[in-house]
Amino acid sequence: MAGKIEIEIEIEDIRKANLKEVPESCRGCVYWESPNDFEKSKDDPQKKAELEIKKREWFEKTLDEFGSCGKIVYHEGKPIAYAQYSSSERLPNVNSYESKPVGRHEEGVVFLSCLYVADETMRDKGIGEQLLQNIIEDLRRRGFKAIETFACRSSANNPSGPMAFYIKNGFHTKDKTNEEFPLMRLFL
Ligand SMILES: CC(C)(COP(=O)(O)OP(=O)(O)OC[C@H]1O[C@@H](n2cnc3c(N)ncnc32)[C@H](O)[C@@H]1OP(=O)(O)O)[C@@H](O)C(=O)NCCC(=O)NCCS
Repeated sequence: MAGKIEIEIEIEDIRKANLKEVPESCRGCVYWESPNDFEKSKDDPQKKAELEIKKREWFEKTLDEFGSCGKIVYHEGKPIAYAQYSSSERLPNVNSYESKPVGRHEEGVVFLSCLYVADETMRDKGIGEQLLQNIIEDLRRRGFKAIETFACRSSANNPSGPMAFYIKNGFHTKDKTNEEFPLMRLFL
């Protein structure tokens, strides 16, 4: 973070009451939760409202059964970044990736499905790192053993961002069967 301008932020757990503050592009995104619906929605913008309901239902069930599963970052009261994580069993699209195996809940492993500084003017100011560290502390406190994600080697345009970001934050490569989308892991 040396040399970066400190931005004042607040990080809050996602709750049923603040779901409407999840960034718009993520609110109805069921890429991990329901890949078939995600594919169909590409050709059918009418499906947006339906998918927002589906995603809301996923959050409500996951909050009840898994507990805290996401964070919203605020700057001056406005949501600017977001993260989502839970057990891989709740995110069936992990099985479509070649790098494997993704850790399971019974092994104490949590899958980070999205880390996103939605406000582009707020990127590269240390917010992504603070958000990731906040999640890591939360999961340590709850007794989990590891956090995993698929990073992207050559681009940041990926649900959880680029591989360089995870290497910088202490993750190692667990499997790189697909070198472009390696499975990264951090022991907690
Ligand atoms: C990836 C992301 C979460 C990182 O958060 P951030 O606040 O911008 O990054 P930070 O300032 O906390 O961390 C920066 C470090 O991460 C790495 N990093 C961040 N963005 C990077 C990029 N585009 N390419 C390579 N490394 C990158 C670097 O190691 C950097 O360290 P350095 O400043 O010492 O060089 C954020 O940039 C983002 O959301 N990008 C868009 C991702 C996207 O499109 N997601 C799709 C969602 S569906």
